[in-house]
Amino acid sequence: MDLMEYQAKELFAQHGVPVLPGETVDTAEAARGVAERIGKPVVVKAQVKTGGRGKAGGVKLAGTPDEAVARAGDILGLDIKGHLVRKVLVTEASDIDVEYYVAFLLDRAHRRYLAMASAEGGMEIEQLAVERPEALARIPIDPIGGCDQGTAREIVAAARIPADAADDVAQILQSMWKVLVEEEATLVEINPLCRTPDGRLVALDGKVTLDGNAEFRHPEVFAAYADVVSDDDLEGRARKKGLNYVKLDGSVGIIGNGAGLVMSTLDVVAYAGEQHGGVKPANFLDIGGGASAQVMADGLAIILSDPDVRSVFVNVFGGITSCDAVANGIVQALAILEQGGDGAGGTPRIPLVVRLDGNNVEEGRRILHEAAHPLVLVVDTMDGAAAKAAELASGAADGQA
Ligand SMILES: Nc1ncnc2c1ncn2[C@@H]1O[C@H](COP(=O)(O)OP(=O)(O)O)[C@@H](O)[C@H]1O
Ligand SMILES: [Mg+2]
Repeated sequence: MDLMEYQAKELFAQHGVPVLPGETVDTAEAARGVAERIGKPVVVKAQVKTGGRGKAGGVKLAGTPDEAVARAGDILGLDIKGHLVRKVLVTEASDIDVEYYVAFLLDRAHRRYLAMASAEGGMEIEQLAVERPEALARIPIDPIGGCDQGTAREIVAAARIPADAADDVAQILQSMWKVLVEEEATLVEINPLCRTPDGRLVALDGKVTLDGNAEFRHPEVFAAYADVVSDDDLEGRARKKGLNYVKLDGSVGIIGNGAGLVMSTLDVVAYAGEQHGGVKPANFLDIGGGASAQVMADGLAIILSDPDVRSVFVNVFGGITSCDAVANGIVQALAILEQGGDGAGGTPRIPLVVRLDGNNVEEGRRILHEAAHPLVLVVDTMDGAAAKAAELASGAADGQA
């Protein structure tokens, strides 16, 4: 789970990484009180889960409480790279002498962590890595050994942090490592780590990604920082239902059981779509082993809420959950959706192409034929079903479903 800047800084503060005082608000007027409490010039900062907020007009200086209200008004409601700003952080403004970059991240390929650091922070790290790769130090960190004082000094030296800041930066690196270990993060980044003209160091921006697999060990942290999911956030809604859903940009909704089957379904649909003007899959959705009616209904509700979806391909291979159970699940799911309880925006009107195979397939197909739902089309082969779903999505078969 990616955290917002203010959340990352809360964790920083708990583990001894220096940050400046600040509070978040979701109305412009509320910025006044915060600015008054801080009692110094402030910076108003968009809280969205994307970088480059500064360049996008999402970070602004305010000298007075009145200005803070005005700047918060400018920033709230902005769209930054597709993220709507609903919250701003009002925080003390710092004088800046230099900006450093420091980060720890999980290096999956090498089964260890990686420290990255640079005496030239501030700009986006992807840009620094491309334009001045020699200025970005990369030091592997052994997961067991961690970042002790010796390692921290090694990082600081490799990043060419000036000698008079070296001790403080090394100290901050050790505190960041504590954030990573104790909060079970896969990324802890500070950019910029600012050095003030009087030589103090402070994290002006922070990025933390918590490891979702460790959620059960940190239920309070995850609950506190969970996103408020909006209705048009399909992936967020799916997550809440425990579904493995990834939005793609095509028009054929896909439901399958087992990640491997769903992946190959995406391939056959994309391939079949080439015959129909480049129709593509609209999503990845793996409903897993137990394809119950409720899971099927939840999955269909998400897919049918996607305004781009023109047809749905349900591709299930019956295993422990046999085809008759899946067929009943589909019939009941459609009934659940027709009762309108699942936020799919009313009665389904999109055709469903269903391909069943595997355990007890004959009974499964019989159930679907018997139910004779006007939107359901049973096709026996995967390729045939993919072709049908692509054709329906392309509009070529309008009126035939
Ligand atoms: N509290 C602050 N005081 C002074 N300058 C700040 C403060 N916070 C951010 N800035 C300046 O704004 C720039 C961009 O802010 P940052 O938080 O890094 O957002 P982003 O990385 O999303 O652009 C920083 O590099 C820094 O120069
Ligand atoms: Mg930044």
